[in-house]
Amino acid sequence: MENKIIHTAITKTGKTVSFRYPTIDDAEILMNYINKISAEKSFILLQGEQQSLEEETKWLKDKLEKIDKNKCVYFLGFIDNNLVATAEITLGSFVKKHIGSFGICVAKKYRGEGIGKILMDSVIKESIKNIKDLKIIELEVFANNPIAQELYKKMGFIEFGRMPEGIKHKDNFIDAILMYKKVK
Ligand SMILES: CC(C)(COP(=O)(O)OP(=O)(O)OC[C@H]1O[C@@H](n2cnc3c(N)ncnc32)[C@H](O)[C@@H]1OP(=O)(O)O)[C@@H](O)C(=O)NCCC(=O)NCCS
Repeated sequence: MENKIIHTAITKTGKTVSFRYPTIDDAEILMNYINKISAEKSFILLQGEQQSLEEETKWLKDKLEKIDKNKCVYFLGFIDNNLVATAEITLGSFVKKHIGSFGICVAKKYRGEGIGKILMDSVIKESIKNIKDLKIIELEVFANNPIAQELYKKMGFIEFGRMPEGIKHKDNFIDAILMYKKVK
């Protein structure tokens, strides 16, 4: 079973990309997608670690519960039935229940053709609409990832802090840059 398409757009190279929420049936394609990006040791949390189908299913169930409660927006981007991008905004709890944490990644082959920007815009708009308590979106970015920093600045995010050596990336200690955007 698939969810309905929320947004469709054309990339800079003329491909049609469609965004939709996940269903539990997406666990396996999400596992394959995240394991490939993890192996790349890109600028994401996972640095080579591989998720089992059981772990991915558990993670996805938790997301689906939060989506059901309007505490999360999570979009999968598809081109010709291939999963090419994911992005989410997940609301915090207690004193942080007005703050959504943002995360995004685009499959290597599809980077630099506008998908990240379109997806980010789409997820932010959907979260403003669907997550009633959301006031601020926050994110963390590797200091050695200028492409993502540029994207976030273009989307109106402002740096508010930096943890020196907050990230260990490929045996180097890199600063973690914190950014936010007020949306309501
Ligand atoms: C960061 C990432 C999500 C951006 O998505 P993308 O689809 O590649 O980005 P876009 O093509 O939409 O480009 C958005 C902006 O990023 C910058 N950018 C993208 N590719 C670039 C490149 N090769 N060189 C320099 N800047 C680049 C530009 O500022 C661009 O804006 P523009 O279209 O106005 O020129 C994607 O590259 C990615 O997943 N990278 C690996 C994982 C990652 O870094 N995740 C973010 C963790 S914080």
